[in-house]
Order: sequence, then structure tokens, then C-alpha cells
Amino acid sequence: MLRIAIDGPAGSGKSTIAKILAKKYGLLYIDTGAMYRFAAYLMLTTNRNLNELVDLLEEKDITFEYKNGEQYLVVKNDDILYLKDELRSIEVTSIVSKVASNKDIRNALTKKQKKIASKNNVVMDGRDIGTVVIPDAEFKFFLNATLNERAKRRYKDFVEKGVKITFDEVLEDIKKRDEMDVKREVAPLKKADDAIEIDTTGLTIEDVVSIIDKIISKAIKQ
Ligand code: DC
Repeated sequence: MLRIAIDGPAGSGKSTIAKILAKKYGLLYIDTGAMYRFAAYLMLTTNRNLNELVDLLEEKDITFEYKNGEQYLVVKNDDILYLKDELRSIEVTSIVSKVASNKDIRNALTKKQKKIASKNNVVMDGRDIGTVVIPDAEFKFFLNATLNERAKRRYKDFVEKGVKITFDEVLEDIKKRDEMDVKREVAPLKKADDAIEIDTTGLTIEDVVSIIDKIISKAIKQ
């Protein structure tokens, strides 16, 4: 099996790198952040409390699909929901860390993630992939970058999408989310002992892919 775990804080480049690796090695890309964002989205759109939300979440059949080259989180139950931009809204982003700190929500989503990883060759990104979801992954990476660089990247994404937000707001949001993700009791953001850490500050996407590709290619050849 080929399972690649990528963890790291917001804006460290996880999803961009994961998508490239998925294409390169023919892996299924699982954006676990999108699954936590979906939990937050459900909370906002259904007005349920956290307990009711867990039951609802457990019933949902969550997968990922490509449409016109873009990846969507797909929920197939009574009707089919394709979600992408809704999950990255400011409303969802501002409550997702709190939702993701709930033990029962994490249990429900971790179960789904483990199931996908047991049946497929995957590249999965998140905060607890190397530590909790796939502790026996063939490759584990922990991406990092300075807070300022990460905020710059996220700010650029927002500007490109036409979202009205200031750089300082983006920086504050990332800082707050990092703190919550690192300090929470259950499955906090943490480098697995055997993960390879890459500081992506000042590196291009191609630089990071090349570092990871060299490590994987070398190991596969051995
Ligand atoms: O990577 P992201 O910004 O889309 O993640 C959204 C939130 O979900 C983030 O605040 C941390 C949380 N998360 C988590 O707790 N565990 C994961 N495996 C993935 C994301």
C-alpha cells in the first residue's frame, strides 16, 4: 500500500502539495480539513447542537469527487450534495477549530477517515493523520512555515477569490486557529515522532514537491 500522511498548521501548503502528489502517484486525495469544515457547515445550516450533530454526521456518506478538475466533498444520502467554496467561507472558518476540538465529532470523522485509508492508496492531509488516523502510513510529512508566510499565502488566496478581508484579519484568524489546534486535548496538531518535517518558508511549491518526491522515489527503489 502507499499511504502518505501530511500534517501541519493552516497555510503550510499541505493541500497544494497533497493534490500534486495524488496526481503524480495515482492516489486518492483526502482533505480531512474539509470533513471538519463540513461538520461546521452542518452545524451552521441545520441549527443542531453538538450532540445532535454527531448523530447526523455519522449517518452521512462522505466521499470526494472531481468535477471540471476541482475536488468536491460529496455527501450522498437522500440527496447528493457537492460542496467546495461553502466549506471555506469565513463563517465556517471561524467556528471550525471549535467544532474540531469536540471528542465525539473527531471520533465520528476519524472512523470514516481510517475506513477510507484501509481500502485505498491515499494521500491524506490534516492535523492528526500521522499521529492518529494512519499512524502506520508508509510516508509521513509535517509541513511548517512562519506565521507571517502562512498568513500571506492565505491572504493571497482570499484576494484571488475576491473575498473582502484584511491581511491582519487573516493573520489573527490563523494564529487563533493554530493555538486551538495545538492546545486541544484530543488529537492536537502535533508532528508524529517519525514524520519528516519540512520548513516551507521561502520555498516554492515545486521545491517542496521535489524534496518529497526524492524521499519517496528513493524509498520505493530500495
Ligand atoms: O486544513 P483546514 O484549514 O481546512 O482545517 C480546518 C480545521 O479543521 C482546522 O482548524 C483544524 C481542523 N482539522 C483537524 O482538527 N484535524 C484534521 N485532521 C484536519 C483539520
